[in-house]
Amino acid sequence: LEKQDLEDKRFVISAGGTREPIDPVRFLGNRSTGRFGINLALQAAHRGAHVDLVACNIDGAMLPNHPRITVHPVGSASQLQEAMVYLADGAQVLIMTAAVADFRPATSGESKFKKDGHSTPDITLVENPDILKGLASDRSHGAFVVGFAAETGDENGSVLDYGRKKAKTKGADLLVVNKVGETAGFGDVDTAITILDGDGEIQTEGAGTKSQMAGIVLDSISLSLS
Ligand code: C5P
Repeated sequence: LEKQDLEDKRFVISAGGTREPIDPVRFLGNRSTGRFGINLALQAAHRGAHVDLVACNIDGAMLPNHPRITVHPVGSASQLQEAMVYLADGAQVLIMTAAVADFRPATSGESKFKKDGHSTPDITLVENPDILKGLASDRSHGAFVVGFAAETGDENGSVLDYGRKKAKTKGADLLVVNKVGETAGFGDVDTAITILDGDGEIQTEGAGTKSQMAGIVLDSISLSLS
């Protein structure tokens, strides 16, 4: 029998990747499938939670069907932000797994870009708000805030170094750091994570399938709530 440690908790989980419109038919997007967030939503629901899943452009065949999960489909980062802020009210846990575009085209025209045979269009980008930072700094919702960071190490620092910096700048209660590269991260089934608290201290580490990792993340949250 599954543990019911998340009974009576309401979770708001973002998953997938945002799409920023360039014109009515084109967008700037990313390769996030939403698999990790969906895993989290399903396991949280199995453990008794009510889940609002804010689904950014997730393939309909992947969306979970569970009586305690409500799916809210959104497209762009600004739509995601609006949904998160609205749903945060009265929630116990907010989890941002979505891959959010850092930039969006400054204008998304009413009509398609057209080829004129000699010039190429200029796309000017403007910065999107950091939704996680916003949810972590304005605490009027009262919920526990969890973020994700997909990192690569380089000559200036390890995955953990970058994760620690991000834990401090984002201000979330927990930051789940995972290493991305040729064999991990986006779309793949196996992954390795380190869970940091708001000060960048290690809470938990683990490696395995995304489903096993989702369980570890929920254990960490459950422990923090109790
Ligand atoms: O800064 P970076 O994109 O690495 O941070 C990742 C975390 O921040 C994820 O939890 C992601 O959902 C969140 N994020 C956000 N708004 C942005 C960019 C990232 O909420 N504009």
